[in-house]
Amino acid sequence: MLISGAMLATPSLAEQNSSIRLNPSQPGHTINRDIFGQFAEHIGEGIYGGIWVGEDSKIPNVKGIRADVVKALRAIKVPVVRWPGGCYADQYHWREGVGPQSSRVDRINPWGNVIEPNHFGTDEFMEFVQQIGSEAYINLNLGSGTVQEAADWLEYMTTDLPTTLAKQRAANGHTAPYRVKYIGFGNEAWGCGGAMTADEYFARLKAYSVFALNHNPQQRFAGIDLLFDRDAHNPHAMQRIAAGPNDTDTAFTEALMKKWAAAPGYLPLFDAMSLHHYTMTRGPMSDASQDFDESDYATFAQLALNMDRVITLHTEIMDTYDPQKKVALVVDEWGNWLKPDIAENPKFLKQQNSLRDAITASLTLNVFARHADRVRMSNIAQMVNVIQSMILTDGEKMLLTPTYHIYHMYVPFQDATLIPISIDSGRYRMDDINLPQIDAIAARDANGKLWLALTNIDPVDSADITLQLEGMVVKSAKGEVLTAPRVDTVNRFDEPAAVVPKPVKFTAKNSRLLLSLPPKSVTVVELKG
Ligand code: AHR
Repeated sequence: MLISGAMLATPSLAEQNSSIRLNPSQPGHTINRDIFGQFAEHIGEGIYGGIWVGEDSKIPNVKGIRADVVKALRAIKVPVVRWPGGCYADQYHWREGVGPQSSRVDRINPWGNVIEPNHFGTDEFMEFVQQIGSEAYINLNLGSGTVQEAADWLEYMTTDLPTTLAKQRAANGHTAPYRVKYIGFGNEAWGCGGAMTADEYFARLKAYSVFALNHNPQQRFAGIDLLFDRDAHNPHAMQRIAAGPNDTDTAFTEALMKKWAAAPGYLPLFDAMSLHHYTMTRGPMSDASQDFDESDYATFAQLALNMDRVITLHTEIMDTYDPQKKVALVVDEWGNWLKPDIAENPKFLKQQNSLRDAITASLTLNVFARHADRVRMSNIAQMVNVIQSMILTDGEKMLLTPTYHIYHMYVPFQDATLIPISIDSGRYRMDDINLPQIDAIAARDANGKLWLALTNIDPVDSADITLQLEGMVVKSAKGEVLTAPRVDTVNRFDEPAAVVPKPVKFTAKNSRLLLSLPPKSVTVVELKG
């Protein structure tokens, strides 16, 4: 049964007179813009149809890449894209996806048991990244590939010397070396990446770490490079990511971090460790993406906030082995993994996206921002048409999901400096779930502007928040608010603007700024003195 927020029978006990205090003169950590990163895997219409349509398509494209999708992604300033998987990364052989389209290799893709034509390969991915103004995170094949294959891939992408592989790249249309900001050493090593123990994985990772080098002159001098020039530390060097734990598997984290700490100081084997944590109740593909009730909504809000506990569990272990926080924690797969209900093949993982997804995205991004000293990248799963996506396509039609709008509203937080805040709000209660009604983050951007993101979780009660700033009188706040008639409202191809942000402005009265937050909403405002 559909339940309207305004019709809900169970009253919540939210209180009024909430307040938020912030002191802009006590800045916190930088919110790395890569926290707003994306993930695009060869699953269903995640690449084919969603990003790649081919140059001969009637869908407007530039070099085979959908122009409408590129335009939408540019607007959210996607900082980084992880590719080609996921599980698919450990089955991917890069040579099958370079060269003339007619000579690409057809393979089985187990995601849906369909033919992978390899039409979207390295050069197409790099073209895509360049078109959307982003950076590349390449996930290497550590499961079924070889160390030499990975080393060759890096050489193909990054060398500026006229090697055979560089000449091949030039023949394929790209003379200059590509930038590869991150590489991942495999994916989910404990599962689809090879069913390895942490020890087995680390033994393999070592060889990849030593031989898979970035040769781009602007990005060299990480890892083993430092053996050749120990003084050549490069802040722009490629970052190398170990495939880390799932959910609360702290034993995996412990094993990896112990080995990282034991490696010789001149040879750090990885610069970051990944964490995967999806939100679901009874396993992937079980929770409805639409037509759900308030109890489901409250459960997902609670699970989203639980990301804090998951990150804390892992960071406590990382802090033990790496108190200087040299190793980043990157949550390179997360999101609401729901019942696939809008594609014929359930293994295409194509699901609808509601206001609930937008609200949980905001709560999760807030958690990452609060952990910005350790969490320096995240990649929501996934960018287009797969799991909690930014964009849904259907042939030539395209729509922006509620989650997309959150990423758009949060752009000012990219590389901004977190400002610690204290929130005194009421509670939102549903059955045995008891959450703070309001969740929020504040930050100062590079231009000195102050931003506040506020989520009112309560689906029934609005909230009036008094803002208290030390050392600054705020005269107004201006920005956008995202809400909808119901928590399960979605954007459809025949109604694409059911959940879209609306402008909002608050003005101080008697030196007091009151922010009125509608129920089940996310508000992002710039504070002006
Ligand atoms: O995102 C879908 C899949 O979920 C990825 O391929 C895998 O890494 C994870 O289990």
